[in-house]
Amino acid sequence: KTIYLKDYTPAPYLAKQVNLSFNLLPGKTIVTSSVDYVKNPAGVSSDLVLDGEDQTVISVALNGQPFEDYTIADGQMTIVNPGHAFSLTIVSEIHPEANTALEGLYQSQGNYCTQCEAEGFRRITYYQDRPDVLSVFTVRIEADALAYPVMLSNGNLQEEGMLADGRHFRVWHDPFPKPCYLFALVAGDLERVADTFTTMTGRKVDLHIYVRAGDEGQCSHAMASLKKSMQWDEEVYGREYQLDLFNIVAVSDFNMGAMENTSLNVFNTALVLAHQETATDSDFMSVEGVIGHEYFHNWTGNRVTCRDWFQLSLKEGFTVFRDQEFSADMNSRAVLRIDDVNTLRRLQFSEDGSPLAHAVQPDQFIEISNFYTKTIYDKGAELIRMQHTLLGAETFRKATDLYFDRFDGQAVTCDDFVQCMADASGRDLSQFFRWYKQAGTPSLQVSSHYDASHQRYTLTFKQSQPDTPEQTNKQPLHIPVAVGLLDAFGQELLPTRVLEVTEREQTFTFADMADRPVPSILRGFSAPVKLETDLSDDDLRLLQVYDTDGFNKWEAGQTLALRTIQRVMDQPEADITQFVADIGTLIAQGLSGQGDKALLARALSLPLLGVIAQHQAVIDPAAIDAARTAILIQIKRTHKEALAALYDLNRNSGEFSMTPEAMGRRALQHAVLEILTVTNGTGCAARSKAHYDAADNMTDRVTALACLADSDQPQRAEVFADFYARFKNYPLVVDKWFSLQAIANREQIFEDLAMLRNHADFNIKNPNRVRSLYSAFAINNPVKFHDPSGKGYAFLRDVIIELNTINPQIAARMVTPLREWKRYTPALQAQMQAALEAILATPNLSGDVFEIVSKSLKG
Ligand code: ARG
Ligand code: ZN
Repeated sequence: KTIYLKDYTPAPYLAKQVNLSFNLLPGKTIVTSSVDYVKNPAGVSSDLVLDGEDQTVISVALNGQPFEDYTIADGQMTIVNPGHAFSLTIVSEIHPEANTALEGLYQSQGNYCTQCEAEGFRRITYYQDRPDVLSVFTVRIEADALAYPVMLSNGNLQEEGMLADGRHFRVWHDPFPKPCYLFALVAGDLERVADTFTTMTGRKVDLHIYVRAGDEGQCSHAMASLKKSMQWDEEVYGREYQLDLFNIVAVSDFNMGAMENTSLNVFNTALVLAHQETATDSDFMSVEGVIGHEYFHNWTGNRVTCRDWFQLSLKEGFTVFRDQEFSADMNSRAVLRIDDVNTLRRLQFSEDGSPLAHAVQPDQFIEISNFYTKTIYDKGAELIRMQHTLLGAETFRKATDLYFDRFDGQAVTCDDFVQCMADASGRDLSQFFRWYKQAGTPSLQVSSHYDASHQRYTLTFKQSQPDTPEQTNKQPLHIPVAVGLLDAFGQELLPTRVLEVTEREQTFTFADMADRPVPSILRGFSAPVKLETDLSDDDLRLLQVYDTDGFNKWEAGQTLALRTIQRVMDQPEADITQFVADIGTLIAQGLSGQGDKALLARALSLPLLGVIAQHQAVIDPAAIDAARTAILIQIKRTHKEALAALYDLNRNSGEFSMTPEAMGRRALQHAVLEILTVTNGTGCAARSKAHYDAADNMTDRVTALACLADSDQPQRAEVFADFYARFKNYPLVVDKWFSLQAIANREQIFEDLAMLRNHADFNIKNPNRVRSLYSAFAINNPVKFHDPSGKGYAFLRDVIIELNTINPQIAARMVTPLREWKRYTPALQAQMQAALEAILATPNLSGDVFEIVSKSLKG
């Protein structure tokens, strides 16, 4: 059933307070919910309609009297005209131990936990499960005291005590009204790591991280990240935490990354646990970023929440922007921006180019959990970033102050947010708002002209918007384009200024230009567009060396690489000497010890296949890979000695460290080793094996495994076996072991996949393990996923069908790599379409999978 934004009406009843009581028993859980309702003056109906799924109603009472005058149909309980103000008590029975969908109340390794966003609360009790119904929650939990010593919910602990038969209870109270999607409950046998934070007004907040026994030693990075997040939000946004306690619980079975439930964040273990022996540098970065993300939701999502789920990007886009800026402030800004833009291009641009393209504020959906997308999150963050760019940091801060001030405690819309930006700046942002409503990645073409006689330089921009499903004839957007100008020697003539492109075609003139300048356009990737310029290779080479903008410096090199890859694809014998020589210059810079190593690592990496594919009219993964590999081989042959020297220069000094310098050094060694081992011969395997043997941390081990993955040399099996033996008791590392085999571009891949699928450690019910095999393969092994035999598609198709009944959300997510089928070669298209049709023909197809598959096929 499709739901439309235009159909929004306010809830008929307000919930003044909610009392929940959970009796956690072996084999069943009894939930009693008592809610005081009052008619909403803004409501248009007088029927109380409550959402509820997967539960048995045991009894209903209205104002304390048994009540039976309700109907239940299609997941809703309706009570006709219950009155102006009344209390309703519903007792129901649920089965968390049998809940494999991991929505609502479920079990993970014997512990109870909840996931209510977006619509999981209705699997716990009948309620108006919508984000604009805010209420004060009091929660009583009762369970066996030995098996479940820890019992948590939102807010403050109000009461606790022992009961008969070895049971105990706890009562939690959250004084801040919240929508039910932010409710959480955890009960289990967990260890606690504790610290404190003192807020800017001097209040002491207890910080607790709960993990399974044995994992306590892997929490210090998460705890440090939490304290940094709390301080950053005070400094940058003036936002203080309001309660006396902040809990984080790590669970192994989780559909997504983490969840921002008020004062009780629930996390996937993958985004909490981090130790040098078991986590890579990039894992450390993810933990910091996601701890920040969930903490920042406290203000952007919880204190100010969404009116309805069409506004999801109100909280997610803004919170991603906040976590990106937090990470940029804690680490290297340019490196972070490069990595974020790479992800945006690979995953969001491809979504925008597929039948699943949708607006940041969509008009309709079938299943909201399918809208936790790269568009809502990452493109949404780009829209906030553009507003930050247009307003400038200071005015943006005034606007966010206004936003928090105006809407604290309310459920609002993306329109409300942009209105604050407009009110605080005095600017008209109505054209800008089109970014929220128009799907698809805009193209921006730039042509330059130098008029020597008038010493005038002009840049002419042409923007165009692609048609997307149900959207054609789009209007021009308001695009902030950050531009700087360099002279022929690489000196900056004009520091960054923001040109505002608002017309379909628009020219900007720069006066007093004694010579033709070289423009650095879209600095910092100031807008999420596909940029095409008329810059020559020589212009790009100048920018690659001299641009003052770290992002564009890298971008210039990537554009040169893309041009080179295209040349080789068009003409395998093409002369690429110049490009290879330029790489030599970068290597020489590295050998001189100058420059940022993390940036050099990225400069030495050719664009990933998924990024190159965004520039192809028809995608042929094998052809892209062949061209990319041929270039890497030529780079290796030409610069073998210099690369080996650069590798040696960046050897591990012996003392492990997490400084940006040390992480940069490891990243650089990885980039170099990848080139040196591209031919997969005996020497390559020996190098990788030596790298593994010298490793004292997970980053270096993963580098070695990644460089050995495609190899057929005996060292491959040796190293993978050693890795498994060492880490078989660390599930998150076993996930890496699965992934690193699933991404292998080698002949035996389909036998490997079958072996991994049947491995004793594979578990279809654990999303991390499913992703470690299937998403790793389908997303990060594009050549074999798109194998002409169709075996790759069949492998994914079968698991989607299997997961459809076990965990529909995960099943639907797994369809992603198939949705762009129309962009591939005709032979691949036919096979992808067949896989989609086979899924669509599955009996009892869940709404989640149906929406993605049917939209993919229709597109
Ligand atoms: N709000 C969470 C976050 O981004 C995501 C949780 C969504 N979960 C889900 N099952 N749809 O921080
Ligand atoms: Zn979020």
